[in-house]
Amino acid sequence: MSERIAFVLGTRPEIIKLAPVVRVCEATDVPYTIVHTGQHYSETLDSVFFDQLELPDPDYNLGVGSGSHGAQTGEMLIRLERILEAISPDIVLVQGDTNSVLAGAIAASKMDTELGHVEAGLRSFDRRMPEETNRVVADHVSQYLFAPTEQSRRQLLEEGIHDSRITVTGNTVVDAVNRNRELARTKSNVLSDLGLRRTSFFLMTAHRAENVDDEATFRQLLEGVELAAREHDVEVIYPVHPRAEKRLEEFGIDVPDPICTVEPLEYLDFLRLESAAELILTDSGGVQEEACILDVPCVTMRDSTERPETIEVGANLLCRPDAVEIARGVAEMMDADTGWENPFGDGDASERIVHELVELEPIPS
Ligand code: UD1
Ligand code: UDP
Repeated sequence: MSERIAFVLGTRPEIIKLAPVVRVCEATDVPYTIVHTGQHYSETLDSVFFDQLELPDPDYNLGVGSGSHGAQTGEMLIRLERILEAISPDIVLVQGDTNSVLAGAIAASKMDTELGHVEAGLRSFDRRMPEETNRVVADHVSQYLFAPTEQSRRQLLEEGIHDSRITVTGNTVVDAVNRNRELARTKSNVLSDLGLRRTSFFLMTAHRAENVDDEATFRQLLEGVELAAREHDVEVIYPVHPRAEKRLEEFGIDVPDPICTVEPLEYLDFLRLESAAELILTDSGGVQEEACILDVPCVTMRDSTERPETIEVGANLLCRPDAVEIARGVAEMMDADTGWENPFGDGDASERIVHELVELEPIPS
């Protein structure tokens, strides 16, 4: 057991969902290196999560920053190749579907190192989303595919990937939620800090390029959330991702009154708000999963989702970003029965991943 894992990560959701895997490496003395691409660099999207999730600082930060898809991914590739050649890991591990994942996957696949993809087999079947291309490429060049559910495993088989390369692990987001949910309840003061005037509120996030980069779509989405909030007489808390912040300024949009915008939140504060919310409106992948795990109804403001399990168990409803559709979707989910089954596993995904990679002693039951 001397395999050396190089975690290649670069954005908020990767830090959150790989933190439990790093923790298992720590606990089992598996040597590892963290290579940060620098795709996310603002404190609120980056270092705050390393601190709160008690992760060691990255060994390398490539400092790539923002740019067009080609420029950003290309620069990552150039810098990653140099680092990976220097540290020569046995396995590169990537998670999810961002440009950092694409670069990590391509860089590793051209070198004498194996590649593992955490959250393999998710598909929205919408190739207009950059994330869909990133997922497909990462899956098809990986030796180890960690599928969160049986459904994602079946998708990989349908695409011709051999069963021997796939392990169904559950999603590491459950590991993260299990570890932090109680901490969030006892440690986070976010509810009082935000001075929520009423006990019931909605939580929203919207940051996806196809929603916020188009002015008319972004306006429709906000109008839909406003309509729903007025109809149910609630406030809405909206931690604004920097991409969306930039667009609000550029388009000169005044966010309507029942929506209270705040800076992006730390993980414990965000988890606390998710748990306490009456309903969550989002276009985020991770937030759809967390709402489902936390038993909070969710309306996803998108045409498609790569997390169909959330819809099948009755936790989530897809609504295209149109004001009337969103208001209608919220009304439907406000009437939904909660208590659905969590389709994303038991919270031991990270252990399964590390055990598969380095053949440790069996996990004690
Ligand atoms: C990226 C991922 C998306 C993921 C999201 C997680 C891709 C193609 N997209 O989107 O799948 O859901 O991360 O949050 O990889 N910016 C800052 N500070 C930062 C980072 C970005 O201000 O630390 C601003 C810049 O203006 C930048 C914009 O946000 O141009 C978009 O950043 P980028 O990394 O390109 O994509 P995200 O929207 O963050
Ligand atoms: N999140 C957070 N603070 C926020 C918004 C989101 O900690 O203000 C967390 C959330 O709990 C989830 C992750 O960020 O674990 C989702 O990231 P994001 O929506 O940026 O990316 P996606 O999952 O859509 O790729």
